[in-house]
Formats: sequence, C-alpha cells, structure tokens
Amino acid sequence: MPEVNGASAKIAIVSPPFTNQADGKTLDKTDYIAFIRRVFTELHRILTPTGILVTINTDLRDHARYNGGDTRFDGLLWQKHCDIRGVAENLGFRCFDTKIWVKSLKQDMYRYTFAYIQFFRKGDADTRTSIRRRMEPEFAPHVWLLEKGTLRRDSRSYTFRDAIHPEIVSRCLDRFTVSGDLVISPFVGSGTVLAVASLMGRPSIGYEINTFLRPLIEESIQSPLHFPAYSKLLNRIRAAGSFSIC
Ligand SMILES: C[S@@+](CC[C@H](N)C(=O)[O-])C[C@H]1O[C@@H](n2cnc3c(N)ncnc32)[C@H](O)[C@@H]1O
Repeated sequence: MPEVNGASAKIAIVSPPFTNQADGKTLDKTDYIAFIRRVFTELHRILTPTGILVTINTDLRDHARYNGGDTRFDGLLWQKHCDIRGVAENLGFRCFDTKIWVKSLKQDMYRYTFAYIQFFRKGDADTRTSIRRRMEPEFAPHVWLLEKGTLRRDSRSYTFRDAIHPEIVSRCLDRFTVSGDLVISPFVGSGTVLAVASLMGRPSIGYEINTFLRPLIEESIQSPLHFPAYSKLLNRIRAAGSFSIC
C-alpha cells in the first residue's frame, strides 16, 4: 500500500480471502500466514497511533489439502482466527475486544455459519481513553446476529458469496471513527467496506486482486439500494435525513 502515507488511516477492516493459492481451493498455511503478515505489517505502518484493526475470520475444517497431503488433519478444526491474532500480536497490535458474527441460524454441513470479529489497537495506545464516545447499543452485544448478509448479486447476475454484512462495517465506523477519517479495505471483494464508508462520509482506499469484481464494487458504492443486505443501514441513514445517493 505504498500510496498510503504512514500513520494516516484510522481504521482497517479486513476479511481475508479463504485461500491465497492460484486454484482458489487449496491452501498452504505457512504461505497464507506469511501473506497475512505482509498485509498486517503494512497496516501497522499506515494506521495512526490510535488506529484500529478489525479482522473478520471464519474458522475452517482442516484437511489434508491444507497440510501437504497429511491426512492426519482430515476433519480437524483449524482455528484460523487464532493464528491471525498471533500474527497481529507479533507485530505489536493488541486485541481488546471480540464479537461473534452469526451469519445464519440454519445448519450448514459444509461451512461454519459464524465468524470471529477481532478488534486490535496499535501498541501502547490506550483504547479506554482513545475511544471516549458512548457505546452504541448495536455495538455492545458480544454476539451479532446478522443474517442474509454474505451474498451480493449484481446487475450482470454475477453472485459473490463471501461478503461481510454491511452492519458490521457501520457499527465499526460508528464506534471508532468520525466523519473524514480514512478507512482501509485491504480485501475489497464486493466492496462492502468502501460502500458503507461512502454512505457514512468516510474517505476510503481499497485493494482487490480480482478485476472481474470491478462492476460489482462500483455498483455497491453507487447503488447499494440494489442489494438487500444494505436495506437496514439505508433505512437508518434515510431516517436520519442524510441519504443522498442514487
Ligand atoms: C473474503 S473476500 C472479501 C469480502 C469483502 N469484505 C466483502 O464484503 O465483499 C476476500 C477478497 O480478497 C481478494 N484478494 C485475494 N488476494 C488478494 C490480494 N493479494 N490483494 C487484494 N485482494 C485480494 C479476493 O479476490 C476476494 O475478493
């Protein structure tokens, strides 16, 4: 992220890809963790001294395909969020809160239906004094039941299935930022972080390796009304009288 000045961003909201391998299916854990470390190193550089790192991770059923073919791991659980927390703490971030995001109450035999949201601050910054504002009632619960938030079908009928719920972004921006604070999205995906930042008057910078997602990202930013997952947030913004996008 060389174009972002050091100590200039207030918050980074990170939902990393499932795999960093070219086939999109297999996973070399060592390489994956090294990749996350490179991203977090950059985030540490660009966040302000009171900056906040938010990570959203779904743990994975472990498998030989993630462990060099070693079948001893089949069926075990890889608590990916623990390794990611380790990477952050090694770099000097400190975890000060976690939430569970319940994506669905329906059972799914293939994938977990909840994710860990982890909140980190940089080094010695004291979160109790740097975050003075009243905690919004939406932010306070430890479990966030936010269903139907992972799917985005754009005007091309292309469906993206790994989005985060817009409410997660709005709660984080409400809690940790004010208008004008710079927001970073290292893995843009469908564009949720950029779209909510725009709705809430925060400038943002995002990175996405998959150029096919560009029309979806633009649609999310320009026309969030097209996506049901944004409806609650849009209603709230409308009720507050500051809704002005198409
Ligand atoms: C889990 S999705 C992010 C979803 C996003 N938070 C949303 O709400 O739509 C992860 C994204 O990271 C992207 N990605 C993977 N490797 C990347 C890289 N090296 N640089 C930028 N983006 C990358 C993938 O293409 C994918 O779209």
